[in-house]
Amino acid sequence: MTWSHADNDWPTRGLSFGADYNPEQWDKEVWKDDVRLMTQAGVNLVSLGIFSWGLVEVADGEFDWEWMDEIVDLLADNGIAVDLATPTAAPPGWLLAAHPEVSPLDHDMRPRWPGSRLGWCPSNPVFRTYALRIARALAERYGHRDHVVMWHVSNELGGGNGRCYCDTSAAAFRTWLENKYGTLDALNKAWGTAFWGHTYRDFAYILPPRGNESKNPALVLDFDRFSSDELLAHYLAEREVLKSVTPDLPVTTNFMVGAEPDCVDYPRWARHMDIVANDHYTRSSDPLPEQDVAFSGDRMRAMTTERRPWMLLEHSTSAVSWQPRNRAKTAGELIRNSLSHVGHGSDGILFFQWRASASGAEQFHSAMVPHAGENTDLYRDVCTLGRHLQTLAPVMGSRAPQARVGILFDDEAGWAMTGGVKPNNHLSYGRIVRDWHAAFWRLNESIEVLPPWSDFTGYEVLVVPGLFLTDDETAARVKGFAEAGGTVVVSYLSGIVDEHDRVRLGGYPGAFRELLGAWCEEFRPLQEGETFTLDNGWTGAEWTELVHAEEAEVIARYVGGHLGGRPAITSRALEAGGRAVYVSAGLDSDAVLALARSLVRPTSMANLPNGVEVLVRRNDDETFTFFVNHSGNDAVVEAHGQEMLTDEPVSGDLHIPAGGVRVVRSGAVG
Ligand code: GAL
Repeated sequence: MTWSHADNDWPTRGLSFGADYNPEQWDKEVWKDDVRLMTQAGVNLVSLGIFSWGLVEVADGEFDWEWMDEIVDLLADNGIAVDLATPTAAPPGWLLAAHPEVSPLDHDMRPRWPGSRLGWCPSNPVFRTYALRIARALAERYGHRDHVVMWHVSNELGGGNGRCYCDTSAAAFRTWLENKYGTLDALNKAWGTAFWGHTYRDFAYILPPRGNESKNPALVLDFDRFSSDELLAHYLAEREVLKSVTPDLPVTTNFMVGAEPDCVDYPRWARHMDIVANDHYTRSSDPLPEQDVAFSGDRMRAMTTERRPWMLLEHSTSAVSWQPRNRAKTAGELIRNSLSHVGHGSDGILFFQWRASASGAEQFHSAMVPHAGENTDLYRDVCTLGRHLQTLAPVMGSRAPQARVGILFDDEAGWAMTGGVKPNNHLSYGRIVRDWHAAFWRLNESIEVLPPWSDFTGYEVLVVPGLFLTDDETAARVKGFAEAGGTVVVSYLSGIVDEHDRVRLGGYPGAFRELLGAWCEEFRPLQEGETFTLDNGWTGAEWTELVHAEEAEVIARYVGGHLGGRPAITSRALEAGGRAVYVSAGLDSDAVLALARSLVRPTSMANLPNGVEVLVRRNDDETFTFFVNHSGNDAVVEAHGQEMLTDEPVSGDLHIPAGGVRVVRSGAVG
């Protein structure tokens, strides 16, 4: 079978299924076994060559393509499409030896020593020249092969070189600042540099935030923005080379979208991706890993144009190897996680990696083919998943309907909230956002986790959790949403500073004070172990505030303590039926759930058996409803249509086995 990407605008004909493929770690005999097992499992796409720079460019300008030619041919002969990676995540030893200055320096000016990966400074021109040369060489050699269907630029850009503090970066940072501010006066004013007499008299005096001591948070924030832009510039330079050779091949890079502020600003990068792609790994310490899968999917969908499908480029079949204790997935979890990603809008399920490595830094990481080989439950699950994905091919291209709940998430706001000294340095931005997501997720609400500049039309509830940095335009649009009849929930630590990280004066949260009809005079962060109780029985920890509710109704007040009798949660009614709720305290998750429940109109989805998640994708003619049973009990839900994985009609009761997934195909309205 030969496959041509010209047939379709998605790189594979069916849902993409496969992995990072690292044949360079194995003898050629193993390659034959690889393609046999891939074919058996239904693999149709592999990411090839990700860390292979030193294996094809064996010395400066000297190329050995033989092994890659052979594997590219072998994959072509077996009908397996290639997502070809530029290998720039792993600069070769000869390059680092000849140009040690390309290594990034950390905030204490210590180099990232060779021996790992992503050991390069994003602003280094020497590195850029070499990186673009290998990208061009690859594109010219393989880009026109029919089964090479997409480009994978580098790997997880920023994962290791997200911030570089070297002199080259410092010079590039100064140029970036000159372009942004124009004059030193404007910069000094924006950053408030008069504090500690730091007023700059020359751009040359500005340095990245080196060292561990407290720095001006505005400087730190601009350095975060600059660092994201420098890595994006690198991606764009590689992209331009690839497009100049193969204008029609989609180009992407793998994001690491999760719940904490990312090392780069992914929503601002997304528009430069032909396919928006993500790597997602759950953590052993996460009490709710399935919600983390949902959270990343709900973020990814908001990064594609009009909720088009995205692609999961990496996740794990079982345990990873980079956590303190690496949890193996339980029976059914591999398939359940994968199909949840599809339900959340991914049209591809790929893993790190195809075959578990025998040697090297990740030798104990799970893979599609484990160390024990093919006669394993894990490989059998991989084959079952492959069959499921083939069955689910009609889902391709369908999109999630408009969600009812929008939750704002912004990397810049996260950087601003966590950079510099803060009233409670133990708070996590991601935790605050995820608590709100978890509440609506438990209610089976459709959710999108959106950047603040998104169009808010169509949502019923807009949650603004911990949006520490809020610019005037966002504040005005959130207000407009409530005035047009929407429900807005603002949590503590939202709207505190403007885009220059300058506190909005006159009472917190300055950006939303007028909308909320309530304001905070003073933060009252709690000490470790300290808790509070409200007069409706809700409890919480970590954060309280001294709030004045002037034009808002008080929903709950503190009981006892120095805030006894004072407002903790307020609500202001607006004319068109809209309202603005202020949550000034760190509520426990049960209280967030109770509050979330009071904010949405009940739907039938809220009454599904405990632990059953419902996800909907649609195209013009059909609806695909994914029922994902995260619980340990069999469940019964009501559904009508054709169940795709068992190929049985359903009219009424649909049984979903414990830990299993069912997908019901029905007419357009569903
Ligand atoms: C990813 C990375 C892969 C592999 C994987 C292990 O972050 O892109 O190369 O290291 O983690 O979980």
